[in-house]
Amino acid sequence: DWTSASFVESTVAGLKEKLGDDKVVMALSGGVDSSVAAMLVHRAVGQNLFCIFVDNGLLRKDEYENVLESYKHLGLNIKGVDSKDQFYHALEGLTDPEAKRKAIGKTFIDVFDQESHLIEDVVWLGQGTIYPDVIESVSVKGPSATIKSHHNVGGLPDFMKLKVVEPLNTLFKDEVRAVGRTLGLPDNILKRHPFPGPGLAIRILGDITAEKVQILQEVDALFINGLKREGLYDQVWQAGAILLPVQSVGVMGDERTYERVVALRAVTSVDGMTADWAHLPYTFLADISNEIINKVKGVNRVVYDISSKPPATIEWE
Ligand code: XMP
Repeated sequence: DWTSASFVESTVAGLKEKLGDDKVVMALSGGVDSSVAAMLVHRAVGQNLFCIFVDNGLLRKDEYENVLESYKHLGLNIKGVDSKDQFYHALEGLTDPEAKRKAIGKTFIDVFDQESHLIEDVVWLGQGTIYPDVIESVSVKGPSATIKSHHNVGGLPDFMKLKVVEPLNTLFKDEVRAVGRTLGLPDNILKRHPFPGPGLAIRILGDITAEKVQILQEVDALFINGLKREGLYDQVWQAGAILLPVQSVGVMGDERTYERVVALRAVTSVDGMTADWAHLPYTFLADISNEIINKVKGVNRVVYDISSKPPATIEWE
């Protein structure tokens, strides 16, 4: 019968045998899956694991610094790469959701390829692929392949002649969390909501600019911190804010304003395949709305998304 402790023991032993003295490179995202996978590989090969964490300019407020710090605490050999400008440049003028995803995916591969070439004689690419990713990447190869191209599976370009190691590809999410707990990962990683690879780019409807990212980061941080403060964070499966390509009329003092609208999204779910909008307390929504409008310059209206999946998706793009 399965226990996380026995999984760790047998997986680390298996990895030691498979990887030997080889070098391994991994891109970490700050999420549960890549973090747990990295910890397992780290136990097997130690400093022969080279981790890379890319700042794509589309992360949450302060996330780059915080995540980098957590990884260092865990003893991982991690390199932070600031590629914000490269991503913003690649996204310039793009408004189509799939075009944005493709530009981000391509830029990420460019950055990762460049970084991994700096590691001499690296043989393996470690990935945090979990079992549902394996299933989904098979099922989206049909005619619906273009619904949303999740780029974190099978994204290995031919020119990177690395062998792939995926220690979590038989596990479900709750098992991954249990393994992470056994490995001593902190709650801020283990209980973290899922966050899409393309980050805030798919929560800014329309084209991406550094200014829009900054506004959305502020709104998102107020929302997420509010959920944590009120003990609601662990009750929802995923939450975030969306910057709409809409301005609305408002009033401040004697002045008429014409500013941005943001939507808040929070859902309950088991696996993200279906989801219900989270029935957050009205008092919480009222307070958060006030806080956002008062504190974030350029936003004068907040709406709450009450759509379930299906037919809506969790993300707006
Ligand atoms: P949807 O919007 O399809 O989202 O209901 C389901 C889950 O997938 C995440 N998501 C993505 N994750 N790359 C990712 O890595 C993507 O392009 C992407 N699109 C959606 C979404 O955040 C939710 O957790």
